[in-house]
Amino acid sequence: MRKRGVLAGILCLCLLFAGCQAADNNNAQPEAEVEESSSEASVTEEVEESSSEASAEESSSEASSAETEESASAASKTLVVFFSRTGEQYTVGVIDHGNTAIVAEMISEETGAELFEVLPEDDHYPMTYAELTDVAKQEQNDNARPAYAGTVPDLAQYDTIFIGAPVWWGDWPMIMYTFFEENTEALSGKTLVPFSTHEGSGLSGFDKKLASAIPDSTILEGLAIRGNDCQNQQDSVRETVKSWIAELGM
Ligand SMILES: Cc1cc2nc3c(=O)[nH]c(=O)nc-3n(C[C@H](O)[C@H](O)[C@H](O)COP(=O)(O)O)c2cc1C
Repeated sequence: MRKRGVLAGILCLCLLFAGCQAADNNNAQPEAEVEESSSEASVTEEVEESSSEASAEESSSEASSAETEESASAASKTLVVFFSRTGEQYTVGVIDHGNTAIVAEMISEETGAELFEVLPEDDHYPMTYAELTDVAKQEQNDNARPAYAGTVPDLAQYDTIFIGAPVWWGDWPMIMYTFFEENTEALSGKTLVPFSTHEGSGLSGFDKKLASAIPDSTILEGLAIRGNDCQNQQDSVRETVKSWIAELGM
């Protein structure tokens, strides 16, 4: 009997011990879950935080690249397109820097504008004055459209485009009509400013002819400079260019 009582006591103790273990395990489980879910939460938060930081950084870098683009486009919103010849020219002999090129460069220096030179694709223009006048006259009679070389810069980035050339037989050289016709759409909506160099004919209607070629554009007052002055009176030409640009409000 006494033996049975001892056994029953041991059994009771075992049951009690097992119960305590079970109770401990039940308590441990939620703790682990809380830890896990809280660590999940903190990981998610960190990811969200860092992803929101990243997107903030991204949008700030987007903003700064937009600013850079804006300031680049603000700095380069004016272009000077020009055609000019070296070799033998009227009243100045043989020159190695074209008259119109000199004015184009001055405009660029005064406004910060970029330059695009219209160069013939096949340079068939003679270097002697008399021969050049013959070729130019023939092109005019034929209403020719001589091809130019190179790729025109993306004109969409410019608001104002100065366009200059020597007067040839009272008109734009025919290669400039090639330029106007090949870029009519891109030049439409722009502010265009014509300029010429000449030896007596002035602007020769460059402004009206440009308006006819690009009807959907705003043509500002043009400038005509003597070719001889470009070679021999550069200080006074620069002053004239400066005051013209100031009058244009640039
Ligand atoms: C083919 C040709 C035709 C010209 N026709 C005229 C003209 O009709 N009226 C004028 O005043 N000057 C005329 N000139 C003179 C040029 O307009 C002047 O020399 C100009 O400054 C040349 O510029 P460039 O060096 O940029 O080519 C002509 C010159 C050439 C070569």
